[in-house]
Amino acid sequence: MKTILSPRPASQIETECLAVLVLDQGEGDQTEAYVAAADHTVQEAAADLLAAGDLTGKPLEIGWLHKPSGIKAKRLLLIGGGKRKKFTASDLRKAAGAAVRALKPRSLRSLVFLCPETLPVEAAVRAIVEGAIVGDFDPDTYKSDRKDQRLESVTVLASGKQGELERALDEARILAESQNFTRDLVNEPSNHMTPSILAKRAEAMCKETGLKVEVYGADKIKEWKMGAFWGVAQGSDEPPALIVMRYEPAGAPQKPVLGLVGKGITFDTGGISIKPADGMEKMKYDMAGGATMIGAMRAIALLKPKIKVIGIVCATENMPSGKAQKPGDIQTAMSGKTIEIINTDAEGRLVLADGLCYARQLGCTHLIDAATLTGAVVVALGYANAGVFSNDDEMYNRFSKAFEKAGEKMWRLPLDEEYKEQIKSNIADIMNTGGRWGGAITAAKFLEEFAEGTPWIHLDIAGTAWMEEGKPWMAKGPSGIAVRSLVEFTREFESS
Ligand code: BES
Ligand code: MN
Ligand code: ZN
Repeated sequence: MKTILSPRPASQIETECLAVLVLDQGEGDQTEAYVAAADHTVQEAAADLLAAGDLTGKPLEIGWLHKPSGIKAKRLLLIGGGKRKKFTASDLRKAAGAAVRALKPRSLRSLVFLCPETLPVEAAVRAIVEGAIVGDFDPDTYKSDRKDQRLESVTVLASGKQGELERALDEARILAESQNFTRDLVNEPSNHMTPSILAKRAEAMCKETGLKVEVYGADKIKEWKMGAFWGVAQGSDEPPALIVMRYEPAGAPQKPVLGLVGKGITFDTGGISIKPADGMEKMKYDMAGGATMIGAMRAIALLKPKIKVIGIVCATENMPSGKAQKPGDIQTAMSGKTIEIINTDAEGRLVLADGLCYARQLGCTHLIDAATLTGAVVVALGYANAGVFSNDDEMYNRFSKAFEKAGEKMWRLPLDEEYKEQIKSNIADIMNTGGRWGGAITAAKFLEEFAEGTPWIHLDIAGTAWMEEGKPWMAKGPSGIAVRSLVEFTREFESS
């Protein structure tokens, strides 16, 4: 999808479809809908529709006007944005996504979106571009009657310093396209997304964007004594892959070095502690954490912050077989810690344990991991919020600013020492499960042992990486959660 910036007046634009926001400026319970455009001709074109009460400005409510009078667009698409005073960039992102998704089934291929005058113009341009590109994604790659329904272009009407606005538009495009890149990877079924294929996709992306990349197989995983990672990988006939992407810009300081570590389980059967058949097909998205880091590295490579970043993905299947690890087995992790395997379905924390340790060995001073780690985080937070954990309040505070800016919902969960009791083992240093209660937290406590005091953030995206239901602004399926937050964090971290 092309993204275009134009300073022209809305009424003069010849297009199939001009989209404008309808906001509600009524006080309290009263509603008073108005078109959020400085341009009076656009307001007049929609005046009858609003006067009739057909649109009240409720969030994401939609109205169409054909051959509107006084303006050159063939159609006017009016999108509700809610109360004017509460209207945020996040709402605008959704409205732009909803506009795109309203166009797609109508075989309209281009959209012109008018910036509302209620937000700072640069933030508005970003929100519209991000929302439109994310809204354009559909997961129906494998439908044989798939008509390519992607939009050709979105034009944002905005006046201001055009140079700065162009830059905002380009940056927003990179962010949203990287999020969709992640969604494409997550969408693939496991027979089309083995660890080797994931590695190939990462390599191709790195080649395109100028990142250094290395992919290591079983030999190195064993040689480097990544016993926790190998314990999971040993059960599968598909070779595992340790993917290492490096962003080392000239002129970046030696420190900090940010390590982004992703769980890349391309299919999670549970292993010998096998999962029930019901819903097991969803475990193709168990590599979403890894895909998140690949998408984030793509955006970082293109946006070029002055900070070193290393992306690491631990990719393998989790399979039952004659070679698979068994409950009761003890594995020695790369760090030297011994792990008693209680449940082979708690495999994500095992591969990440070695991923985090390896990141520290490569010199990372700050760590972030992302993983579809636990069903328990879905019990705790449902589908609306990703779980965030951190051993460092300062790093967390920066990260929370980043996810707020990105408009992604996350909620911090605790890491009190009490929870560590649950993962104490009788015969090894630690167990890989901690019983039924607080399962997302005990999983995070396990990972914390492998961050070993390095400032670290853990994102449990099990409930948010895949959307069971579509939203007006976003298709159901892979969400690409956390890509934008990670990139925002990295860019802010640069200037620290
Ligand atoms: N990949 C799953 C977690 C998951 C659940 C992801 C639902 C997405 C949706 C993870 O590897 C897993 O199996 N976790 C177990 C841990 C348990 C055995 C301690 C779980 O959550 O049941
Ligand atoms: Mn599992
Ligand atoms: Zn898993």
